[in-house]
Amino acid sequence: MTLHRKTARGVQGLFITFEGGEGAGKSTQIARLAEHLRADGDDVLATREPGGSPGAEALRHVILSGSVEPFGPAMEALLFAAARNDHVEQVMRPALRSGRMVLCDRYIDSSRVYQGVTGDLDPDLMRAIERAAINGLMPDLTIILDLPAEVGLQRANARRGAGAADRFEKETIEMHARRRDAYLAIAAEEPERCKIIAADRPAGEIAREIAVLVDQLKVDRGMKARRAAEVFK
Ligand SMILES: Nc1ncnc2c1ncn2[C@@H]1O[C@H](COP(=O)(O)OP(=O)(O)OP(=O)(O)O)[C@@H](O)[C@H]1O
Ligand SMILES: [Mg+2]
Repeated sequence: MTLHRKTARGVQGLFITFEGGEGAGKSTQIARLAEHLRADGDDVLATREPGGSPGAEALRHVILSGSVEPFGPAMEALLFAAARNDHVEQVMRPALRSGRMVLCDRYIDSSRVYQGVTGDLDPDLMRAIERAAINGLMPDLTIILDLPAEVGLQRANARRGAGAADRFEKETIEMHARRRDAYLAIAAEEPERCKIIAADRPAGEIAREIAVLVDQLKVDRGMKARRAAEVFK
């Protein structure tokens, strides 16, 4: 078990990322977990990618508008990486160092799945880009919300109503199924970091399962014990 990391200002916060296809429930579950952690006295930063810092939010608009699509998936991956690096260095790493819990909606696994697998990019290139983007900031835990592609699309469509789909939502069911398989393959390769959660269940049930996982991680990292000790000293 990895020991918690000490920083100048105390114990480093946990970095938890949420992954899964459109409509899998990432936003819903981040809000639930943030509420759970705050009730336990944690300082929580809920953030998202692409975006999460002023520089990265500017790139988010460019990326999601579809105007970089003609540049091809490799150049698009570089733009995602530039946005990610800004978010990492300006926002997430400082937050973690000051002990905050950081919950991030999409991170490296979205790039691996969306640009790498369904964009058919060279795995060596993808790894190099990832390394440059995150500079060592790996998640402590990645929650993969797993859903049949059809169910996710139905949810995303229902939520959007008559609004326009962004460019990633316009793609086919078959593409969604490939992404689901790619997420499951990542989880099989990195079982310590990645936990698959069946997302086709009531939101409250999923939220409780995630809360149990995160509470256990806090105990493993000595965070629960630390807080209790502070109370009684
Ligand atoms: N467990 C659940 N059961 C049924 N509906 C759900 C569940 N979780 C979320 N929803 C609903 O499904 C829709 C998509 O959920 P949410 O926005 O949390 O997904 P998301 O993964 O953040 O999607 P996106 O990738 O498009 O941002 C919302 O309308 C939400 O209320
Ligand atoms: Mg969302």
